[in-house]
Amino acid sequence: MIPKSSSLPTVLALCQSLLTPVIAGSLPEQAQLIDQRVFNVLDSTRPPTEFNSTSLFVPPGSTADSLTQQPFHVYDEEFLKIIGDTPTLTRIGHSPKDPLFHEAVVWVKETDEVFFVQNAGAKNAGTGLKKSAIIEKISLAQAAAVSDKTDAVGLVNITTVPSSPVVLNPNGATNYRGQLIFTSEGQGDDKPPGLSVVNPNSPYNSTVILNNYFGRQFNSLNDVAIHPKNKEIYFTDTIYGYVQDFRPAPGLQDQVYRFNPDTGAVTVVADEFDHPNGLTFSPEGDYAYITDTGISSGFFGLNFTRPASVYAPIGYSFSHGTLANYQFFSYRYDVKEDGTFENRKLFAFVNSGAPDGIHCDSWGNVYAGCGDGVQVWNPSGKLIGKIHVGATSANFNFAGQGRMVICAETDLYYATLAAAGNYVDSEM
Ligand SMILES: *[C@@H]1O[C@H](CO)[C@@H](O)[C@H](O)[C@H]1NC(C)=O
Ligand SMILES: *[C@@H]1O[C@H](CO)[C@@H](O)[C@H](O)[C@H]1NC(C)=O
Ligand SMILES: *[C@@H]1O[C@H](CO)[C@@H](O)[C@H](O)[C@H]1NC(C)=O
Ligand SMILES: *[C@@H]1O[C@H](CO)[C@@H](O)[C@H](O)[C@H]1NC(C)=O
Repeated sequence: MIPKSSSLPTVLALCQSLLTPVIAGSLPEQAQLIDQRVFNVLDSTRPPTEFNSTSLFVPPGSTADSLTQQPFHVYDEEFLKIIGDTPTLTRIGHSPKDPLFHEAVVWVKETDEVFFVQNAGAKNAGTGLKKSAIIEKISLAQAAAVSDKTDAVGLVNITTVPSSPVVLNPNGATNYRGQLIFTSEGQGDDKPPGLSVVNPNSPYNSTVILNNYFGRQFNSLNDVAIHPKNKEIYFTDTIYGYVQDFRPAPGLQDQVYRFNPDTGAVTVVADEFDHPNGLTFSPEGDYAYITDTGISSGFFGLNFTRPASVYAPIGYSFSHGTLANYQFFSYRYDVKEDGTFENRKLFAFVNSGAPDGIHCDSWGNVYAGCGDGVQVWNPSGKLIGKIHVGATSANFNFAGQGRMVICAETDLYYATLAAAGNYVDSEM
């Protein structure tokens, strides 16, 4: 539907009523069309001090409530195939303040569970130097049983996973040889970041498989992905532990690494980032997608001309200043036969919130957690839709075919749709 617009000048309203519909036919009950032509020209706009990437954009004719009521926002008809006829979104977890639902969202096929982690750097979590962020999990069968509801908080058990030895301040995760790999952001001066393999079944024992670069500590490892063909482990290293006061000043530039656990070789595959953050591959492994949430302020105050953002949800304040300028770039590289990256390309830019986690579906569409929920682009970088939760989603993931779990810091969601995840469980 084209939003009704009582506040716009009559002439503009008249023009809109004459617009041919972008999408013919009816939409699923939980979906709404966002006609971008309606806000190409706004009758009033505000300066960056009053409206910026931390602000919720409500197009003319919409309200914050109407955006939430039909959370599948169709920006382009290509999104209809992704959501199918009956997409659903259900809130299955809520925490008053503690950001328990942050990142490292990963599906374990064998047990049909999804794991995720608490925020390691948030004041309201009390984590970082004081204690490690926890790993948690849910049963997908429990989530599926309540998918006809919009709010099912309390009906799905959220269980703490006692990794042993504990993975310190985990942040990213992926499937790996029937187990899970978590990135650890480390803690303080002498507990370095690293990669840990974690048994997804009790007793959840873990083994550190990498914790340094030729003796030098990483800054704080962020996200990890397995290349679908060469099965090597790629990961990002970024300074969030430092700007969130639980790691020392960085000793390496923020960059993207590749680790072959069989030979032990660690190499750098990409730099030129402010802060490389989320990382994923296209289904065939031809492309690597990397989000850059480069800090725009932190220690140095606000700077609206910087290209990227901070890996923390809106409203977090750090002892060095308040971070408020969130912007986001996503880059795409070609992955060569030998596993190296080339042809860096700017893929997408989002001005909403502090996004980071990124995943592809099996068709090659690209999804990222952003300031208003999960945004979706086709492989050419065209925004085709959003799963709107009205708040920052730092990460999310598919759980096989047609199911997704979305972390939104103090809220956890379960979505059903038509698309399937791009599942890689390396069996090297
Ligand atoms: C960004 O916009 C919000 C209003 O949405 C405002 O409260 C905030 O102060 C602005 N940030 C800056 C740095 O101007
Ligand atoms: C959640 O866990 C409790 C305690 O183990 C159990 O009694 C309850 O049945 C579980 N809830 C669901 C939906 O399975
Ligand atoms: C967990 O312990 C079992 C039994 O000792 C061992 O075979 C397995 O490799 C361990 N897994 C991890 C990830 O440490
Ligand atoms: C903002 O960032 C740009 C680009 O990094 C830099 O050139 C500029 O000096 C910064 N401005 C302030 C006020 O820090």
